[in-house]
Amino acid sequence: MTQNPIIVALDVESADEARALVARLGSQVNFYKVGMELYAAAGMEFVRELIAQRKDVFLDLKFYDIPETVRRAVAQVARTGVRFLTIHAVASAMRAAVEGRGSSALKLLGVTVLTSFGPEDMEDLNFQGTVSELVERRARKAMELGMDGIVTSPQEVSAVRRIAGPKAILVTPGIRSAGIDKGDQKRVATPADAMAAGADYLVIGRQITRAADPAAEAGRVLAEICVAG
Ligand code: C5P
Repeated sequence: MTQNPIIVALDVESADEARALVARLGSQVNFYKVGMELYAAAGMEFVRELIAQRKDVFLDLKFYDIPETVRRAVAQVARTGVRFLTIHAVASAMRAAVEGRGSSALKLLGVTVLTSFGPEDMEDLNFQGTVSELVERRARKAMELGMDGIVTSPQEVSAVRRIAGPKAILVTPGIRSAGIDKGDQKRVATPADAMAAGADYLVIGRQITRAADPAAEAGRVLAEICVAG
């Protein structure tokens, strides 16, 4: 492992709360995920603040709109220095995103099938196969269209790695060390298991953000990965 694979999910409701967490984590964590909640509260202003502090930002906004809108919105994000951005892995949206990113350094990650989806949602999509089949089909399409990686559950990471190839950036949420409360996550994997299955980055929220000492907890996760690696 040549770099720190932890991305901490800043699932908080204000810039102040996020700032406090980032300060407590200090140099232990350098990569942060800003999702819809914090984005709705603090917007690009806070994202720019993180980047100005030399933090890497994963903007998890799961873009999905008409191609022109996706293309133009991605071009805006590409200008800011954000490192990762999520796009729903639907062909028209992905094509537009790849165009919008142009020659910038922004990496585009496809969201194949939301993990909250079950068989009834497949029916709603009019898709005849299983959730895993749709994940695999969309992962293949994402790579064909020039996306850089995929957000995948720890259960699917090895199958997605086989499809997406060694260069794809695979980012895995749903991570819990042994003995840590799972919260609302049903299917979790330990940091070491997710890395062994082929993940490049681990998105970790509550295990670190709700720990009494978040920096120490991040350190424990890193030690777990290094020992296992
Ligand atoms: O607190 P926890 O570690 O469960 O947070 C995981 C983060 O990853 C949250 O920001 C959540 O929205 C996100 N996520 C997830 N499962 C997915 C996709 C994203 O938990 N399938």
